[in-house]
Amino acid sequence: MDRLIVSGGNILSGTVPISGAKNAALPCLAASLLTTGKIVLDHLPAVADIRTMIKVLQALGCDVTVDKTKDAFELSAVVKTDSLENGKLEAPYELVKTMRASILVLGPLLARFGRASVSLPGGCAIGARPVNLHLDALQRMGAKITIDGGYIVASVPGGRLTGIDHTFDKVSVGATENLMMAACLASGVTVLRNAAVEPEIGDLAAMLRAMGAKIDGIGTPVLTIVGSDLLGGCRHAVIPDRIEAGTFICALAAAGGDIVLERVEPDDLRPLTDLMTITGCGIEEQSERGGAVKRLRVFKDPGVRLRSRDVITAPHPGFPTDLQAQMMAVMTQAAGISIIRETIFENRFQHAMELERLGANLRVEGNTAIVAGPSQLKGCTVMATDLRASAALVIAGLAAKGDVTIDRVYHLDRGYAGIERKLQTVGAGVQRVKGGRV
Ligand code: UD1
Repeated sequence: MDRLIVSGGNILSGTVPISGAKNAALPCLAASLLTTGKIVLDHLPAVADIRTMIKVLQALGCDVTVDKTKDAFELSAVVKTDSLENGKLEAPYELVKTMRASILVLGPLLARFGRASVSLPGGCAIGARPVNLHLDALQRMGAKITIDGGYIVASVPGGRLTGIDHTFDKVSVGATENLMMAACLASGVTVLRNAAVEPEIGDLAAMLRAMGAKIDGIGTPVLTIVGSDLLGGCRHAVIPDRIEAGTFICALAAAGGDIVLERVEPDDLRPLTDLMTITGCGIEEQSERGGAVKRLRVFKDPGVRLRSRDVITAPHPGFPTDLQAQMMAVMTQAAGISIIRETIFENRFQHAMELERLGANLRVEGNTAIVAGPSQLKGCTVMATDLRASAALVIAGLAAKGDVTIDRVYHLDRGYAGIERKLQTVGAGVQRVKGGRV
């Protein structure tokens, strides 16, 4: 198992290319199941979760060809699904257990073929994460669903799902995506209320529209989808990863310096950047006139102390739960008390214990963490427990004295493309140790 060794104390300077958004790329790959046309996807991040989703598509019988960009931070994929008709249409446990987002193939498969079998994802490190919202809505569209041998076995008796007017009990990114995809090939109109409004949903909708889908209300909690008989192929460029960009903003805040993030969508980052400005970081948009590539300059004088802020996670446009761990690492370096409340997942504070091992002064009470800063963190060995928790440990390492050794880096590799190489480009002391040996 690989480890990362982070040697803190370096000031960051230079340009970081931001990869395409993992959480947009995953549903876009699943959406290719809705058509017999050729799908070309650009700006897929070169991360383990994307490789897993490609394996899920291949296990279903899709023909997927992958090309790497020169720097190997991104991939392009061509997906063809014309040989699926008589296939088993089963997403196997071995793949689904490693990545819950595999559930996103259920809606498209049911919509196009009227049958599918997808392993139940089970719990994960950050909480129970059920899929009831996905299944309830698909059942209302006419799907018959049973659980058999750990698998969701679903079929549509009439062959085609029917449009519904449906209010989600709770805002769910994945359920909104699954149902939006299913509705594109259903008969009649589907209205999805209390839908998630995350930018990744807008990106999926843009791809579906390019395939010919009729979707209104993008960016609002009420989506109206008029079902089509057939969707075509398309070429789609996935939006930049706001969570990867946000992680680098947190890294800069902890280490100090001056960096430019290349290919970002500044509006999608506002819940973080507005808060970072208040804590004492400089943020400057650098979009070229008429230019497609937007950049964000982030700077902080290493001699100036950050100010603490309270953080409460919420669905977009609130503060993203996927940046809560990284923000906690930053707050260990800020002067004052920061109260961090996690409202999306019930068990998303495992990084708190590891930050404490590094010397952070914090306490967890239920879904709230109280961080008293600033603390001088000191190097030791810590364990990555989930994707974003691992990123928090890297950020803490940048601010620590001595080496921080992070075990179980495979969590990080699920969602960050070449994180140590990108950090090295801006001067951070980060080294990957292959197979756990120095
Ligand atoms: C997606 C993101 C993940 C992010 C999360 C919240 C992807 C691949 N992953 O995950 O990085 O942290 O959104 O922004 O895009 N819930 C139910 N029943 C369901 C579905 C969800 O109770 O059927 C609950 C979950 O347990 C959680 C909350 O709803 O408490 C939000 O989860 P959801 O938005 O569905 O997260 P994901 O789509 O799994």
